[in-house]
Parts: sequence; C-alpha cells; structure tokens
Amino acid sequence: MSESDSPGNLFLDPVLYADQGAWHAAAAELRDDAPVLRVEVEGYTPFWAVTRHEDVFAVSRDNEHFLNTRNSILGPDAQLEFLKSIGIEGETLIHMDGDEHRDHRSLANDWFRPRAVAQRQASIEVIADEYVDKFRQLGGTCDFAQDIAVPYTLRVIMGIFGIPQEDEPTMLKLTQGIFGAADPEYLGDLTDPMALLTDTIAQFASYFDALTEDRRSHPTDDLASVIANGEVNGCPMDANARFWYFTIVATAGHDTTSFALSGGLEALLRHPDQVALLQAHPELVNNAVDEMIRWTSPVRHFLRYLTRPATLSGVELPEGERLLLSYPSANRDDRMFDDPMAFDVARPDANRMIAFGGGEHFCLGSTFARRELRTILPKLLAAVDTMAIDGEPAWAQANFVGGVKHLPVAATFV
Ligand code: HEM
Repeated sequence: MSESDSPGNLFLDPVLYADQGAWHAAAAELRDDAPVLRVEVEGYTPFWAVTRHEDVFAVSRDNEHFLNTRNSILGPDAQLEFLKSIGIEGETLIHMDGDEHRDHRSLANDWFRPRAVAQRQASIEVIADEYVDKFRQLGGTCDFAQDIAVPYTLRVIMGIFGIPQEDEPTMLKLTQGIFGAADPEYLGDLTDPMALLTDTIAQFASYFDALTEDRRSHPTDDLASVIANGEVNGCPMDANARFWYFTIVATAGHDTTSFALSGGLEALLRHPDQVALLQAHPELVNNAVDEMIRWTSPVRHFLRYLTRPATLSGVELPEGERLLLSYPSANRDDRMFDDPMAFDVARPDANRMIAFGGGEHFCLGSTFARRELRTILPKLLAAVDTMAIDGEPAWAQANFVGGVKHLPVAATFV
C-alpha cells in the first residue's frame, strides 16, 4: 500500500474530509476492523486514531492518564518545529493540563455557565431576528453558510467578547487564517499555509495587545476585559497565554457553531420529511440541534498523550504514545447510536453525541453553541414556506475544524 492509500490519511488529509460520505464509510470500516489504528505517515510523529464512541469518551474523561500538552492539535512535525523556532507555541486552554488548565479556565468560566448564557437570550434573539430579516431581504436566495451562519454566530460571540461590529470582518480573518490554513480558498495572495498562519498570528498579536491596553485602562463589562485583566495565582496572565486566550475565544466561538448550523441545515434540507416534522413539532428543536451537532461534528479531532500504559478496544498502548480522538467517527458509531448514518431530528439519544468532547476540557462554549442554534432554527422554519438546496454545497478542506462552507439555498416566505 502506498503512503497516500494509508487508512491513517483519513485523519490527516484535509481533502478527504471534504467528501463526507466517503469519509464516514471509511471511518465505519475502521471502527469495525481497527478501532485503535496505528498511524505512521512520513513527516508526522506516529499516533493512534481512536474511532469508537466508548473509547473517545473514556479517554476524554480521564484527564490524569491522558494529557493534552502543548501539542494537542495535529500538524506536520516540521510545521510545529518551525513555529516553535520562531517563538510561536499554542498556549490555549486546550494546550494546558492539571492546575495550569484549571486556573486559566476559571478566569472565563462564569461567562459560559448556563445561567450567564441564559441572560444573553434576549440579545441572541435580536441577532437571530436580524439575520432572518437579512435572509428575507436577500429574497431567500443566498449562500446560507456565508451570508447567514457565519455572520450570525460571529455577531453573538463578539457581543460577549466586546469586539465592535466594525471589527467583525477582521475577526473572521483571524479564524480563517488559523483554522482554514489548509483550504486553498482562504490563502488569498499567499502561496503557502504556513505563511498564512504566521501572518495571521503577527497581525492579531498587535490587535490583541491594543485591546488589552484599552481594557486595562477602561475595563468594561465584557469578556475582553476579563482576559485583559486576568490574573493567575495573583499575577497577570503571561502575554503568550493572554494572546491565546483571546484567540481561542475569538476563533473557537463561531467557526464551530457556524459549521454546525450550515451543515445541520444542509442535512435538514436533504430530508424534507425532517423539516416537516420539526415544523409540526417545534418542541423537538433542542433534540434537533443536538442531532445537527452530532451529524456535523465540526471539530474533527484533538490529541491526548498517555501518562501510563493503557488498553483501548483490546489494543495495548505504551506510556508516552499519542492518541487522536475522532469526534466525527465516534458520533456515527453504531455501538452507541441506532442507525447512525440516518439524520433524525427525533433521535432519542442524540444528546449522547460527543462533539463537545468531555472531562475537564469539555467545550467551554457548548451552552452558547446550542442556544444559538436553538434560537435561530425555529425562527427560520417559521419564516419560510419552502426552502431547498439550490446548487452544490461545498465542504471546507480542513482536518481540524470544518464543515459546509458554502450552502446555496432558495426559499419562499410565508
Ligand atoms: C458546535 C459548536 C462547537 C463544537 C462542536 C465545539 C467543540 C469543542 C471540542 C471538541 C472541544 C475540546 C473538548 C475536549 O478536549 O474534550 C472544545 C473546547 C473548547 N471550546 Fe468548543 N465547540 C463549539 C463551540 C464553542 C463556542 C461557541 C465557544 C465559545 C467561546 C467554544 C469555546 C471552547 C473553548 C474555550 C474550549 C477549550 C476548553 C478547555 O480546554 O478547557 N466552543 N470545543
């Protein structure tokens, strides 16, 4: 078998993720035949791809024996070494463990608790109404992903962050530069993804430095002020950790959610019976949103490192090995979900999906993400008389965060 045919490429090659049907068929085979697959591909430190729900769940919950470390996102070794050599090392919550992680997470935690998120409901409603109106103004014909899902989810998160509306396009560039580096559409004038990444980081370091200065001299009631003035163990957060704190909130907060919305809507529109069911039973909306998130699983992986030997699905793993947790695969595991390849808004166990991870790193923004989708979906379905896919949707080429990036739709209104 040539290296490009290696089954492990499924987790590496961004292009393979853009064909979801083929990707899920291949992942299903792995879950049956090699649920903990050793992946050795030139240029990458070997890892084990974990594809069953039970294993992804068990590893996620055990933060003592499976650590995140500073290398918790997959990339070519040369890329990581290059970034390190120029002083760029990820230091987000995702890159921390133990007390360091808990101390940093507790800074922003209160902003993401269900009660705090519930207090934002009125403003989320206003933004959702604005975007349903925009959809009307566009005559119901638009690229739903770019025209509605992206700006809607961006506006909500930037609202808590405290970033002014005129800077939202800049924030979008940040996300695309960091998450979209493998997709040729986001490269712009640059020819290589590494340049896009370093360029983006440089631009945003100065943006966030200015934001920090502003919120230190004029603290306001926003998350940017919390991060700018955040202290860990009685000392101001170090500059690198602060930069990455801003970055993770600015990026993780909307790309993921917009992919869940655009991909979830794509799935709905491919199943008109499901649209009708949801219109007839609006009380199913919360369940439908979980099914949309299970279905789309916008975060494709995170890594974990073993602090001692472990056995997963009968495979013995020595200390020090690294594991790739495949959330999209775990969410289609037929050991956990009946008929997992069916999109079913009434699925009784949709909330067992593991798209938000688990354990101490469980997605900080899950309540926001769910609420954003639960708010706009009923408004959208109530507004339209008919709605259909109107062209070919396109998927992002990305092995970290991805989904439907273009969704041409046509709708008529009631
Ligand atoms: C559908 C939307 C989303 C999905 C699928 C998603 C998925 C994930 C996943 C898989 C993790 C890692 C969990 C683990 O390692 O066990 C994570 C962590 C995180 N997410 Fe989300 N996320 C979403 C929306 C959001 C939103 C709206 C925010 C708001 C800012 C957010 C902020 C974060 C942060 C800060 C972390 C790091 C938590 C930590 O390491 O302690 N996410 N997310």
